Amino acid sequence: MKNILITGGAGFIGSHVVRLFVTKYPDYHIVNLDKLTYAGNLANLADIERAENYTFVKADICDFDTILDLLRRYEIDGIIHLAAESHVDRSIKDPFTFARTNVMGTLSLLQAARLYWESLPERYEGKRFYHISTDEVYGALELTRLEGGDEPGGGPFGDDFFVETTKYNPHSPYSASKASSDHFVRAFHDTYGMPTIVTNCSNNYGPYQFPEKLIPLFINNIRHRKPLPVYGKGENVRDWLYVEDHARAIDIIFHRGGVAETYNIGGFNEWKNIDLIKVIIKTVDRLLGNEEGASLDLITYVTDRAGHDLRYAIDSTKLKTELGWEPSLQFEEGIERTVRWYLDNQSWLDNITSGDYEKYYDEMYKQR
Ligand code: NAD
Ligand code: DAU
Repeated sequence: MKNILITGGAGFIGSHVVRLFVTKYPDYHIVNLDKLTYAGNLANLADIERAENYTFVKADICDFDTILDLLRRYEIDGIIHLAAESHVDRSIKDPFTFARTNVMGTLSLLQAARLYWESLPERYEGKRFYHISTDEVYGALELTRLEGGDEPGGGPFGDDFFVETTKYNPHSPYSASKASSDHFVRAFHDTYGMPTIVTNCSNNYGPYQFPEKLIPLFINNIRHRKPLPVYGKGENVRDWLYVEDHARAIDIIFHRGGVAETYNIGGFNEWKNIDLIKVIIKTVDRLLGNEEGASLDLITYVTDRAGHDLRYAIDSTKLKTELGWEPSLQFEEGIERTVRWYLDNQSWLDNITSGDYEKYYDEMYKQR
């Protein structure tokens, strides 16, 4: 495969995937298609934007004609689909946008890929449609050990994990829209023979994450001495994975994953929100030279998120056994790196909060 379309490449995870592919595969032409919604920021890719094997296209995945034209123009062999509305709280306020982008957008991409690839003499030979999804489609797990433990074979907060065969049971409009898109992807394999792959990943953290998500939001708020809004009692559990480890998994699965397979990707790294928040506070305070615990008073318990899933925990044994992937970074190192990055890149955060990063596209691309 030589011409790869990555959708949503100006977002958090997408920018790490684009960077990895552009630098690791000089023989590939990487086309990054992104609508540049509030979450898309080309400054995330400033270091590679002039690479010869990289092209950025501003477009909406829902725009079927544009997508079909682009697939033909760049003779796309492989698609890695990350473009989505990704924030649960926004989906609670505005579910339509999530259905439009995540469901109709994915369908539009699938249908365009089908028409283009079926028009070629080799049809689906050497082609691949890789859809990036979330563990949230599986619903929520029980929290049977409230204080955490180290039971053999179980997670610290419960014995069960999400596996690839766990039944879908989404609760938020976001996860319902992602579940629906996953079903469409699998239906395109079963109905048309399209070579598809789906992966379901746990919570990512690391540089370039939009500061509406827990970790960057809290780092930024601590720096500015703003309240840290903890939903409910802070007892919900998430399984955190460093974003570069996710990008590495995507690379391996894109190249070596089996057609029509599903792989779960996770960190085996469960944290209760309130404990994670205390680690963030401690790390930020230390790096800013504040007294230990100086920012603990910012913790503010607020009304819980509606339909808030209690616990996510991914079992990624299949990926380890079949393709040899496992997380490379210890959480302590990952969180230290992450906090340092946000503190060192305050201008990146400031540009987002002021909305200035939207000008980047006009300056860098529009006039070309
Ligand atoms: P993000 O919100 O940071 O980025 C999404 C990107 O998609 C943005 O650049 C945005 O401009 C683009 N986009 C949105 N609507 C579009 C449209 N209609 N057409 C073209 N581009 C559009 O999201 P993220 O956190 O990087 O997540 C990327 C993918 O990974 C999503 O599919 C998400 O469901 C999935 N995922 C995320 C996580 C996580 O922890 N962040 C975990 C598992 C799976
Ligand atoms: O599990 C994968 C999912 O992880 C991805 O599919 C989503 O795109 C991604 O946004 C993320 O979803 P979460 O809802 O888990 O992430 P978020 O950062 O919004 O919240 C993490 C936890 O922290 C969650 O239990 C809610 C809580 N929280 C979040 C915010 C923003 C708070 O307590 N306070 C907050 O202000």
